Amino acid sequence: MNSTFPPSDPALAALVFENIDRGVIAIDRDGRVTLFNPAAEGYLDRAARHVLGRHYTELFAGQDALLYLVKAAHQDGRSITDDESVFLQRPKAPPLPVSVYATPIFSKHGEQDGAVLVVRDLSRVRELEETLRRADQLAMLTTLAAGLAHEIKNPLGGIKGAAQLLAMELQKDSSLQEYTRVMIKETERINGIIEELMDLGKPRPAIMGEVNLARILGDIVLLQKEAARGQAIDFTLSLDPSIPPVHGDESLLTRLFLNLIKNAGEAVDGSGRIDIECKISAEYHMTTPGNKPSPLVVVRVRDTGCGIPQEDLERIFTPYYTTKTKGNGLGLAICQKIVEDHRGFLKVTSTPGEGTEISVWLPLR
Ligand SMILES: Nc1ncnc2c1ncn2[C@@H]1O[C@H](COP(=O)(O)OP(=O)(O)OP(=O)(O)O)[C@@H](O)[C@H]1O
Ligand SMILES: [Mg+2]
Repeated sequence: MNSTFPPSDPALAALVFENIDRGVIAIDRDGRVTLFNPAAEGYLDRAARHVLGRHYTELFAGQDALLYLVKAAHQDGRSITDDESVFLQRPKAPPLPVSVYATPIFSKHGEQDGAVLVVRDLSRVRELEETLRRADQLAMLTTLAAGLAHEIKNPLGGIKGAAQLLAMELQKDSSLQEYTRVMIKETERINGIIEELMDLGKPRPAIMGEVNLARILGDIVLLQKEAARGQAIDFTLSLDPSIPPVHGDESLLTRLFLNLIKNAGEAVDGSGRIDIECKISAEYHMTTPGNKPSPLVVVRVRDTGCGIPQEDLERIFTPYYTTKTKGNGLGLAICQKIVEDHRGFLKVTSTPGEGTEISVWLPLR
């Protein structure tokens, strides 16, 4: 092999910049952008032709963390990295969490000749961190809740028993019977909530088998359409016929998608669209040591409902978080647990006033 460094072939260097999965942005001595590779175009959501030749202060206007890094490299000649606090502001897309490495460029003669930024997309890392955080939080809450539920169940049984005795002591037609009836009914309701909570803590062991997602989604949509009869809700179901069965627990997966589709139905509040799509994921693969990357299937549930404000997004998976008068706030906590038990992951995007999309990725094998 007769390779040289730096590569003698400029075409090779160009190919590297084209293909590398890092944003590379170079600026010259005057601070003007001289190189803006395709990854940078994607991250910043801008075409190179609109950026080349512009001054970096104009390109990154208002992005103080980024300006600080470029200035450190460009004016002070320092190499500097920030893995934490940089979010790229983009004209049409939400801010992107990135890690940035900025370093001066030196010419062959040793004088500084501009600077280069190398930008790495951290969104997937942040998502995984968020999933872990939610899982931790859920594990802690469920342990706490299971203990508490156990403690409440016994005295509750006592209250119900006493109310039943009272009902027997009272005359059948006594006006006080109504009160004992309410007491019994309400203790039963609390008991139901507690049992659901204990379920969350120690769900029954999963019964794994081959699950036909298309069939369960079809059944759920059929039932939900029926339940929404008389309302102006349009359901669409788009299924990729080539999807093989997934390995999972049919009743848990049914519960998962039922919860998501019910939430969508509640969000559109009488009129709107609910689109459900199931296909092989083009974005993600599952890699496990020693195995070939295996494909994931993605199920998206999209609604044109009320949407979720940005500041509430991270609370919706917390058990008992609800904004509904009749909600328990357990639906999504249960969904999260089921997805984890199937070694999948889940992602929410939402725009208040426009709608919400919840996607679930599940491994196929
Ligand atoms: N598709 C959606 N659109 C808008 N908001 C949603 C959507 N899905 C969930 N939410 C919000 O997240 C909260 C929590 O959802 P979750 O399913 O956990 O509980 P819930 O629907 O309120 O009650 P439960 O499912 O226990 O009956 C909801 O109260 C709602 O505010
Ligand atoms: Mg719900």
